[in-house]
Amino acid sequence: MITNWLATSSFFITRLQLQALRPFFYKVLSTHRPFSYYRRVFYHNQNAAAVLDSLKGKKLVDVGCGYTPYFSDSMFTACALKGIDFYGIDPIIQHNVVIDHTDAMFSLFSSGQGSFHTKPASSEKALHATADNLPFADGEMDAILSCWLMFIWIDDEQELLKIFTEFYRVLKKGGTVTLYPMPDWSCISITSSSLQSLLRRFSVQQTFVFVPFNAIYPPANQITLTKID
Ligand SMILES: C[S@@+](CC[C@H](N)C(=O)[O-])C[C@H]1O[C@@H](n2cnc3c(N)ncnc32)[C@H](O)[C@@H]1O
Repeated sequence: MITNWLATSSFFITRLQLQALRPFFYKVLSTHRPFSYYRRVFYHNQNAAAVLDSLKGKKLVDVGCGYTPYFSDSMFTACALKGIDFYGIDPIIQHNVVIDHTDAMFSLFSSGQGSFHTKPASSEKALHATADNLPFADGEMDAILSCWLMFIWIDDEQELLKIFTEFYRVLKKGGTVTLYPMPDWSCISITSSSLQSLLRRFSVQQTFVFVPFNAIYPPANQITLTKID
């Protein structure tokens, strides 16, 4: 299908470009996105009220959330204001976070118009942690979102195995992991048999995300993995 071909080529070109830039940075770049971005890539561009309504009573975590908790226009802030259990985890989360020049530049390229606050709206839900060691109990989460991290910055299979083992552990049965940007799922080649068998414990759905003439949305797939058993 043409959309899968487009998603796959755009994903691998974007990943190559980022990997070429990587030696110039001392870490994975941290950015932030407005809620409108997350609505578009994770929730089929439904309006904010519909998305927030659908999340009432659920527990979610944004893995590799970057600076999103610190911005007034983020999904993290929108959920905090509505009392929705939405966590953000990232190794950059800390008390009195400061955005350096590189991060400020990339945040500018990737973001909306929100204002930066050194203390997130619901600071107890912005947690310093990594994807392979999540601070949650077994079966606690309804959904995991991860934007611009899995398979694009983190593509080492052993690391992915640890991370998806952790995702599997914290999700309820029927819980979901949603990732963007992604290629066609069948074009991800995995050699580790442990990772292959772990991923078989999820069902896979993909949706093509396309926003013409807007480089912050590469034409790519949003992939939802649902924990089967
Ligand atoms: C490109 S940013 C994406 C931020 C945000 N999701 C967005 O779309 O703007 C990738 C983020 O992943 C974080 N990160 C890198 N390695 C990680 C890991 N092992 N576990 C969790 N987060 C990680 C980085 O600190 C960085 O903030």
